[in-house]
Amino acid sequence: MKKILITGGAGFIGSHVVRLFVNKYPDYQVVNLDKLTYAGNLANLKDIENKSNYTFVKGDIVDAAFISDLFATHKFDAVIHLAAESHVDRSISNPLEFVMTNVIGTVNLLNAAKANWTAAPNNRFYHVSTDEVYGTLGETGMFTETTAYDPHSPYSASKASSDHFVRAYHDTYGMDVVISNCSNNYGSYHFPEKLIPLSIYNIKNNKSIPIYGKGENVRDWLFVEDHARAIDVIFHNAKTGTTYNIGGHNEWTNIDLIRLLCKIMDKKLNRAQGESAKLITFVKDRAGHDLRYAIDSTKLQKELGWTPSLQFEEGLEKTVEWYLQNEEWLNNVTSGDYKKYYEQQYTKR
Ligand code: NAD
Ligand code: DAU
Repeated sequence: MKKILITGGAGFIGSHVVRLFVNKYPDYQVVNLDKLTYAGNLANLKDIENKSNYTFVKGDIVDAAFISDLFATHKFDAVIHLAAESHVDRSISNPLEFVMTNVIGTVNLLNAAKANWTAAPNNRFYHVSTDEVYGTLGETGMFTETTAYDPHSPYSASKASSDHFVRAYHDTYGMDVVISNCSNNYGSYHFPEKLIPLSIYNIKNNKSIPIYGKGENVRDWLFVEDHARAIDVIFHNAKTGTTYNIGGHNEWTNIDLIRLLCKIMDKKLNRAQGESAKLITFVKDRAGHDLRYAIDSTKLQKELGWTPSLQFEEGLEKTVEWYLQNEEWLNNVTSGDYKKYYEQQYTKR
């Protein structure tokens, strides 16, 4: 029997990880710790909230005393750490918030784990990280686990820093740690500030789709449930101190991706083909915009046997259907504070 702390479980990826662990491992006790920022939403976990092996705790990983008490109370066997500020654009306007949660918050969790875990072998600290720590690629090549860190945005700099702290706790204190660096996720419960859900929301509401620069930047997209499966496999099987890259081998320029999305939306909304694409609007580029990410996940595939399950078109269509069927979720997350953010970000363009 394991007691696992999952942080950030009310967010996009975290909610899929919590759901997977609660359903697949009835013998595990899963504690979901989340501050419920604008990005955290308990509605993401409605289907499992009453399960006997699931507990939700509201709290802030930046609060060291609170984290220390939480560890003393729960005696966790392991941590899967996803809580973070995750949006690059927000990191450009408010870097300090990213340092607080992503760096200080991670070190607080490491310290609490170190204080409580005297017998290292059965206590694992898993940090869920991003491919953005590797910086940007030119037209060729892929990120491997040995690519040097070269972050450019305040977001990726904060994630790189937290990765370094996690490794330092392994090298210095012998803590059992693993890290995975994943490419761009898409799927259900994705907050509509990120490219795919924002575009679905805007197309649905006949608003313009903002494409930064010329839309030539490339991202490598992975279905979120495939990421959650990879986390499960790595958590249970990785050797201590190791890193795995996770990615879908699925590169798209932003403009090609949005054209495909527009086609799917036209079909699903019974619009004439070409109608949604008229909403595409090229806007000022993101500062320091990384040109291209591409993940080489050979190590994960060869050593642990994980492979992505979905073709992109199928996953994207599934995702569009989910958003169209979950209008109440979309209306809820886009009301309140989000409205202000949305207006500042998009309507002035
Ligand atoms: P998200 O923004 O959807 O969710 C983050 C969650 O963390 C939210 O529920 C939020 O309430 C919680 N949180 C934020 N600050 C907190 C704090 N101080 N204390 C406690 N909880 C706090 O993010 P996501 O897209 O699900 O990303 C999850 C993790 O995966 C992050 O660490 C991110 O860096 C990493 N990641 C994301 C992607 C992606 O494509 N979204 C890809 C690779 C890695
Ligand atoms: O690569 C993994 C990372 O992917 C994660 O670590 C981050 O948490 C996650 O947010 C994501 O970062 P990106 O910056 O790549 O995702 P985003 O959806 O914000 O942007 C995807 C691409 O689309 C990027 O090139 C910027 C562009 N874009 C984005 C938005 C929001 C636009 O052209 N217009 C937009 O309105």
